[in-house]
Amino acid sequence: MAPDAELGARLAQIKARLRLPVFAAPMFLVSGPDLVIAACREGVIGAFPSLNARPLETLEEWLEQVSSTLAGDEQRRPGRIAPWAVNLIVHRSNKRLAADLDLTVKYQAPVVITSLGSPKRVREEVHSYGGLLFCDVNSLLYARKAADAGVDGLVLVAAGAGGHTGTITPFAFLAEARKFFDGPIALAGGLSSGADVAAAIAMGADFAYIGTRFIAARESLASNDYRRMLVESGVDDLVLSPHFTGVPANFLKPSVERAGLDAADLDRAGPQLQFGAADRPSRVWRDIWSAGQGVGSVERVQSTAELVAELESGYRQAVKRLEGFE
Ligand SMILES: Cc1cc2nc3c(=O)[nH]c(=O)nc-3n(C[C@H](O)[C@H](O)[C@H](O)COP(=O)(O)O)c2cc1C
Repeated sequence: MAPDAELGARLAQIKARLRLPVFAAPMFLVSGPDLVIAACREGVIGAFPSLNARPLETLEEWLEQVSSTLAGDEQRRPGRIAPWAVNLIVHRSNKRLAADLDLTVKYQAPVVITSLGSPKRVREEVHSYGGLLFCDVNSLLYARKAADAGVDGLVLVAAGAGGHTGTITPFAFLAEARKFFDGPIALAGGLSSGADVAAAIAMGADFAYIGTRFIAARESLASNDYRRMLVESGVDDLVLSPHFTGVPANFLKPSVERAGLDAADLDRAGPQLQFGAADRPSRVWRDIWSAGQGVGSVERVQSTAELVAELESGYRQAVKRLEGFE
């Protein structure tokens, strides 16, 4: 089969296993094996950053748990379990990349998502066992570079995303990326309802890539305080700043203020290392929490099963609305 036809066939196989075209996006300190397994059982792609598993031995335990549990589920419910994904941080500073990649290959992660660097470093290994390689990008420049590097799919992180966000509206980002990339695209950035999933597909994306909604899922690694803050927050409760990580990211203002910082004045507040120097320094991601602009859709803490059912119902209603305009 020609490479394009082969990719098309593999993508069709993956889509056939999904209840909804959704990734439960990988999130630092939030996504672990329970969330991944719950998501895949509900028919959406579950993903976790390999660096959430520390030390390295824990990563092997997680990969064993996720792969064997889902393989067992697959035997009981053939064709109904979504594939799972590992997120590899390919930035030069990640000293664990080689070891994490070895384990990713050993456990044959069906989907691998790279972030913060060039996917070239892992492409051959992921393709060696038939894995599908997606690259997370937040600009057209990086989208082009990833496409040129031979990835199978792109994650377009548009404006309004949780974590390190993009700045481009999803409409323009997707339209321009489609001019040079016809492979699978997952769209991210504030997508938080079933209607948003339908909108992403209507726009020409293959998947919606949803983070924030899954933080509040019971199976995530998030603390109850984090979940509660999400439920109580709306888009006005976010602050967008490069202050903590050097890259623009969205954070929940109440968590910033609780750390003794002025959320309105973060960009003048000096470098991150100088704050919280008291006895218990607040740490970004652990104590200073991120969320995307869809945070207002988090109205309750719920199980992944309830969340996916809600997304599915909203998705079906939105599709009906679209059909009404035909
Ligand atoms: C708390 C948090 C941690 C994140 N950590 C990572 C990460 O480790 N790797 C990564 O590729 N993306 C990370 N992201 C980005 C998500 O994978 C996804 O792109 C984003 O959440 C989508 O936007 P949404 O939250 O508005 O749905 C993180 C997002 C959040 C909210």
